[in-house]
Amino acid sequence: MQEKDFITVALPKGKLFGLSAELLKKVGWSAEGLHEKSRKLIIANEEARLKFIITKTADVPTYVEYGAADIGIIGKDVILESGKDVYELLDLGFGKCHLMMAVPKDKKRPRLEDYNFTRVATKFPRIAESFFSSRGMQMEYIKLNGSIELGPLIGLSESIVDIVETGTTLRENNLEEIVTIMDATARLIANRVSYKLKFDRINSLVENLQQNRPGF
Ligand code: PRP
Repeated sequence: MQEKDFITVALPKGKLFGLSAELLKKVGWSAEGLHEKSRKLIIANEEARLKFIITKTADVPTYVEYGAADIGIIGKDVILESGKDVYELLDLGFGKCHLMMAVPKDKKRPRLEDYNFTRVATKFPRIAESFFSSRGMQMEYIKLNGSIELGPLIGLSESIVDIVETGTTLRENNLEEIVTIMDATARLIANRVSYKLKFDRINSLVENLQQNRPGF
């Protein structure tokens, strides 16, 4: 069997992994040993001609853009932030969250514009920049890779731009959302060339997922 007969699927570690693997399994796309904590980096199902790779969340669009993975599952927020040229095939409906700006409750200012020229800690500087500049605001972006909420608590920044899912992290750290930037869910993405070359298999996956995705 040749390499070109396989479809390689990139799945992100973290919150989306379990739901992604579960949904794919429902439509018959799975492999023995496909677990988030697997030490094996490529998990193959020879019979089904599938390969799975498990990567850092932010890297999924990169693998797909370069065609190292034919398809992938990743949040809309991460796709936009990456700026990668990938084909977005389907909204999968799970992983609902939103990107927002929050500040410490006791340091809240009356209007959004009152934060102009302040520092914002974020994993999403690109989306944040496009949001604030569309409002004529100029901010200083401090890129962090995790635990963003720490930024304003220890004086690194005045605010954060981050993902909220349940709101627990904000509550536990006395932060308050002051503006929503965008809503996001998990998406199925494809490499543009793979989508053409492997159209039949990818398209039948899209159709099956369409019928099985939650919340539609
Ligand atoms: C995300 C996000 C928030 C948290 C929000 O972080 O950055 O910190 O989840 O979820 P909640 O509203 O349900 O509390 P993640 O757990 O992915 O880890 P990170 O802080 O290392 O980025």
